[in-house]
Amino acid sequence: PLVVGKEVLDKARREGYAVPSFNTNNLEITQAILEVAEELKAPVFIQVSDGARKYAGMENLANLVKDMASRVRVPVVLHLDHGADFAMVMQALRAGFTSVMIDASHHPLEENVRETRKVVEAAHAVGVSVEAELGRLQGIEDNVQVSEAEAFLTDPEEAERFVAETGIDYLAIAIGTSHGAYKGKGRPYIDHRRLQEIARRVSLPLVLHGASGVPAWLKEKLLATGAEVKEATGIHDEDIQKAIPNGIAKINIDTDLRLAMTLGIREVVVGNPREFDPRKIIGKGRDYLKQVIREKFQLMRTVGRA
Ligand code: G3H
Ligand code: 13P
Ligand code: ZN
Repeated sequence: PLVVGKEVLDKARREGYAVPSFNTNNLEITQAILEVAEELKAPVFIQVSDGARKYAGMENLANLVKDMASRVRVPVVLHLDHGADFAMVMQALRAGFTSVMIDASHHPLEENVRETRKVVEAAHAVGVSVEAELGRLQGIEDNVQVSEAEAFLTDPEEAERFVAETGIDYLAIAIGTSHGAYKGKGRPYIDHRRLQEIARRVSLPLVLHGASGVPAWLKEKLLATGAEVKEATGIHDEDIQKAIPNGIAKINIDTDLRLAMTLGIREVVVGNPREFDPRKIIGKGRDYLKQVIREKFQLMRTVGRA
């Protein structure tokens, strides 16, 4: 069934595992997420981004997820990813989301606090949980001094104050990850010490954005189809495993799903040019999606937590 975000994440932080939050854009992605969650008895977040809303329509996606979630046994949270402003959040509340993110992290702190508070008041009035972000997500390249990059990372003291002043339910933080398939050269730098310091001061579930791993098997297979993804790199599994006992309870994954879907499509289209049944083409994408999603639940220790 569809449930409220806070219940799922408070339990995750308390018990030391994380819940993946997968982006959906269509039927097949939603199916892959829910089928695997059900198979592994795992709670799950399904999130809708701005791009998803423009591509598929907010109401269409919300109704799809709500309907499908009502027919599975595991807890499913319908979440607004990177809500741009109060109006966007209101639309999500109206569409039946059970969790919303207000991302005012690019504004000055005072404005971030003000906008976030407004959203908390509205969302809590209808029993919906709120995520907000402090700090800015940005890849840290090898050639950039860490001290320079630190300006964008979440400040632990500020995080403590932000949580107290806003009344949010979970906090997205910047500790070195970034969105997309190109997270810097080699192993992206993750500031685990900063995370520990934030977790010491903030008892709420913490959220990690930009957490895709660009799995080696996926990249190899993609390269074999002629896809140009040689420079793609993600967050290492060990960094994810290390972050979870330090309070990370929600982990956002989009890029790995994009890669998996594209791999399936490319394998069929490139390898079998006579095929033109979209179900065969997209269906292979859905198979790879399920494989990646299964690996994420295992990595985050979500299996059997429903
Ligand atoms: O946070 C970014 C997600 O990967 C979604 O991106 O707005 O292009 O769907 P999108
Ligand atoms: P990735 O691009 O690493 O999958 O991150 C997705 C994300 O943070 C969505 O909010
Ligand atoms: Zn994000």
